[in-house]
Amino acid sequence: MTQKSLMELAVEARDHAYAPYSHFKVGAAIRAASGKVYQGVNVENAAYPEGTCAEAGAIAAMILGGDTEIAEVAVVGDAPAPVTPCGGCRQKLAEFAPKGVVVTMGTTQGGELVQRIEELIPHAFAAAQMER
Ligand code: THU
Repeated sequence: MTQKSLMELAVEARDHAYAPYSHFKVGAAIRAASGKVYQGVNVENAAYPEGTCAEAGAIAAMILGGDTEIAEVAVVGDAPAPVTPCGGCRQKLAEFAPKGVVVTMGTTQGGELVQRIEELIPHAFAAAQMER
């Protein structure tokens, strides 16, 4: 049996998203440097700003799984164009993704956008910047 792609895992995760307010379900999948894969979905809340993105869910699962280095990311939603991570999620991903990590953004309508993390968030804030 052939192995599922990271995007296929993001698509599968998306079915489980909880998005009763926006009705915009998003799935994410992260492959860690260890090879383990973690999925996440957006989870909305009646107090709208309290919702969490699919990427944040996948990162939380990764940390629980004992990984701290991202090797690859896939994100998918149902939109005319590939779904790109919000600004906050770009920063969250950059915390664990070294330069060069590929982020594939997809849409269930077909089409993909492939970017490296540093293209999505050039000059991400990093712990080293707090050194005085
Ligand atoms: N959303 C994600 O989960 N990830 C993205 O990359 C883009 C946006 C969610 C947040 C909210 O639940 C819904 O999509 C609409 O913004």
